[in-house]
Amino acid sequence: MDKETLLHKVEDYVRDCMEETEPGHDYLHILRVRKMALRLGTTADCDILLVELLALLHDIEDPKLNKGYSVRCALESFDMDASLRESILQILPYLSFSKYPVLPDDFPIEGKIVSDADRLDAIGAIGVARAFSYGGSKNRRMYGRDQSTINHFDEKLLRLDKYLYLEESKRIAKSRMEFLRAFYDEFLSEIGER
Ligand code: ADP
Ligand code: NI
Repeated sequence: MDKETLLHKVEDYVRDCMEETEPGHDYLHILRVRKMALRLGTTADCDILLVELLALLHDIEDPKLNKGYSVRCALESFDMDASLRESILQILPYLSFSKYPVLPDDFPIEGKIVSDADRLDAIGAIGVARAFSYGGSKNRRMYGRDQSTINHFDEKLLRLDKYLYLEESKRIAKSRMEFLRAFYDEFLSEIGER
């Protein structure tokens, strides 16, 4: 199977899997992560096909979405290079902030790129929208309880720029972090906590 055909097959598979996920983790998230990962990939020495496939597949087995999909089964049903498939399957489990906030120095650059792209999609205006979408999908309060969405900013989102690998990611993160901090401060001020 040539590269274009493989990418189309994987796209179709991912679109099907993510049809009904909440808007913070839907196919549009995958498309943003892919676009960002391809952009970051131009600044590094990497296998760009591997980057694109990892970006497309990175959330399929996320336990939060809990749909029971198996990337291995899907990839084994495609006529693709076995070593490319094994690289994808080796890297994918590490692309989770909750499980692996820090990747080893010698982790494949393609994995670092997709990890950065995923984290950049959790900050800035999109990051705010995604957090409230996710919180809403779990029926969480916006504020005022331990598990409220605004707590997630403190626990994770406001620190995410410390967990990026590429220089280009850190550069892109700057304005997104400024926006996130400004949003957080304004939010606390409007609820009378600051
Ligand atoms: P990972 O899959 O890498 O562990 P997450 O899935 O936790 O990363 O984060 C992805 C998105 O889900 C982020 O945009 C984040 O804001 C949102 N999210 C995850 N957990 C929460 C939460 N408890 N409250 C609000 N948003 C959350
Ligand atoms: Ni993601």
